Order: sequence, then C-alpha cells, then structure tokens
Amino acid sequence: MDLPWGDERTKQFVTNVGLITTNGPYGHDIMAAEWTHHISYKPGLIAVCINPRDATHANIENTKEFGISLCASDQNVLSSISGGSSGKSIDKISALKELGFKFYKAKKINVLMVEDAALNIECKLAKQIPIGDHTTFVGEAVETKLSGKKPLVYHAQKYWNLGENIPKPPQDELDRTNQIVEKHKKK
Ligand SMILES: Cc1cc2nc3c(=O)[nH]c(=O)nc-3n(C[C@H](O)[C@H](O)[C@H](O)COP(=O)(O)O)c2cc1C
Repeated sequence: MDLPWGDERTKQFVTNVGLITTNGPYGHDIMAAEWTHHISYKPGLIAVCINPRDATHANIENTKEFGISLCASDQNVLSSISGGSSGKSIDKISALKELGFKFYKAKKINVLMVEDAALNIECKLAKQIPIGDHTTFVGEAVETKLSGKKPLVYHAQKYWNLGENIPKPPQDELDRTNQIVEKHKKK
C-alpha cells in the first residue's frame, strides 16, 4: 500500500530538518530534507532520502559528498526557502545570502555549510540505495560542528519547538515495572 505525502498517517511522524548542501553539476545548492536520520554510531552514519528529480540528487551522485546542517529552532524560514524551489532553476544559496543567511566553507568536503545550525556534519558518500520513490544516500561523517542551539522539530507539515521533557515515573512505580519485567525473563 502507499503512504502518501500529507496523509494523516504520514503526519504522525516527528523529524528533524536537515539542510543538505552540495556542489556538483547544478553548482552550490541547498535543500530541506525531513528524512535525515542518524543510523550508526561507529562509524557515524547518516541517511538522507532524496527524490531522484532533485538537483541535490544529481549533485551527490556526481561528487559523492554532501553536507548536513540540522536546522536550529530559529531556522524555519531557511528550511522553507531551501525546500521551496529547485537548484535546477534557482540559485538558492545566492538568494539566501542576499536575505542575510550565513554560510561557511566545509573543512573536509567542497560544499558550503549553514552557520548556526544545531549541528553541522560533513559527509562522504558511503552507500547509495535506490528504494521506493526516493534514493537513500548514506553519508559517513568526516567532520562535525555543534552550535549549542536547539534543533527545529518538523511534524504534520509544520515547524515546532521542542516541548517539555516528560519526567520519569516515581521510583516505586519504576521498581514495580522492573520486578514485573524480571518475572518474565526467558529461561
Ligand atoms: C520541511 C521540508 C522537508 C522536506 N523533506 C524532503 C525530504 O526528506 N526528501 C526530499 O526528497 N525532499 C524533501 N523536501 C522537498 C525538497 O526540499 C524540495 O524538493 C527541493 O526543492 C529540492 O531542491 P533541489 O532540487 O535544489 O535539490 C522537503 C521540503 C521541506 C520544505
């Protein structure tokens, strides 16, 4: 079955927004990707799922590298602009610079990275997996930078701030839960 864009079921997911920066046949480019996932600790691997029609797709296929700038909570406009047009027809980086957004040159790869993102990760392509209607590009982290800012939350096609931390249940309730789990230990 399908799980289309905008469907109530699809809207139940909560994600980050990764700003994917590349520099290939379409020049320097940036796009928004909610499908940006940390999938391995050692080595640090990040998967991004990109529509084969996008300029970003061609840029990554050609250069085997990409940057990920995880949007900070005050970068929703940057996300909307990056996701609102294609680098095939618009120089989004120049437009964003004119709008006052700042970039810096990546250290280990030949792309631009977004200033003041929650986290910047420079990636070398480790694997390209065509699956479903998007391509999963798995990048190995080769350089990172933390800003200390909180990540932007994306849910139900809207941007959100991280909510309140849910407190742990009281200790007696935790003890009771642990006892019950222990009772069901497999022999
Ligand atoms: C918040 C947001 C999240 C998005 N997530 C994805 C995604 O995970 N994968 C994808 O292929 N497109 C995603 N898009 C759409 C692309 O950003 C959009 O198609 C963009 O124009 C592609 O740019 P490019 O052609 O310059 O690569 C998203 C758009 C927005 C606004």
